Amino acid sequence: MGMSADLAGLVAVVTGAAGGIGAATAAQLAERGARVLAVDRKPAPEEMGTGGAGELSFLQVDLMDEDAPDRIVDHVRDRFGALDILVNNAALIGEGASIERFSLDDLRRTFEVNVIVPFRLCAAATPLLKQSGQGRIVNVGSVNSIMASKAGASVYVASKHAIAGLTKALAAELGPYGITANYVLPGPTLTPMSAALGDAWREHYASRVPMGRLLEPDDIAGGIGFLVGAAAAMVNGHGLAVDGGMLAVLA
Ligand SMILES: NC(=O)c1ccc[n+]([C@@H]2O[C@H](COP(=O)([O-])OP(=O)(O)OC[C@H]3O[C@@H](n4cnc5c(N)ncnc54)[C@H](O)[C@@H]3O)[C@@H](O)[C@H]2O)c1
Repeated sequence: MGMSADLAGLVAVVTGAAGGIGAATAAQLAERGARVLAVDRKPAPEEMGTGGAGELSFLQVDLMDEDAPDRIVDHVRDRFGALDILVNNAALIGEGASIERFSLDDLRRTFEVNVIVPFRLCAAATPLLKQSGQGRIVNVGSVNSIMASKAGASVYVASKHAIAGLTKALAAELGPYGITANYVLPGPTLTPMSAALGDAWREHYASRVPMGRLLEPDDIAGGIGFLVGAAAAMVNGHGLAVDGGMLAVLA
């Protein structure tokens, strides 16, 4: 992609980095010179590179483990001695049941991974992000952070709205320490998560994105990449839609 090494010397953590958007984000940040710790409960993807200008390493951890946030931050402190960028990307889409049929287990699991884990990772990372002097938090929301989609997505939609609120609260609380907190709102993106939704999902959204195609993981990574770069130093508490214009237009 011909990127400059503008993130050289910075340390980043990306969760859900064995998945579509997370893997693309980890790779792009490393190409720009960052030392990136990619985290996922799945093993490292075979095609994962070593990081171009930067460095890409992988930590296999289940974020649902109670001590996962502390373990990740301890690992980063031991290995790099610093943390500048935290990307909370891992999420579950949930079972997709109607409000009358969703299971309490699904509600709890989805909120755990989508909300409680980002919350706790932000908390665990804050001491190192404060030391950075230019700390960056990017939480991965969704177009579902401001709009619901079709019926049967209440758990996921509520969790993604929660991420928007959390991010704004962090912007207020951590701004005085030079830390920005922003979120991205990906539109329909071709990843393992969405592949599971099948052809009907692809066809439904393909016609609704004004740019005329579904999003690719690299498109979303580009938005995240903007928010962690120097040009975004004063962008704080913002939700950046990377959706090809979908939210701007009534269907
Ligand atoms: N794909 C889309 O259309 C779309 C649209 C809007 C928002 N998003 C958001 O983008 C982000 C990434 O989604 P994706 O489409 O790349 O999904 P994905 O399923 O390809 O990747 C998510 C990754 O998170 C990991 N993960 C889940 N639970 C975990 C846990 N307990 N511990 C460790 N890792 C865990 C999974 O193993 C997976 O590799 C999510 O926050 C998702 O909600 C995706």
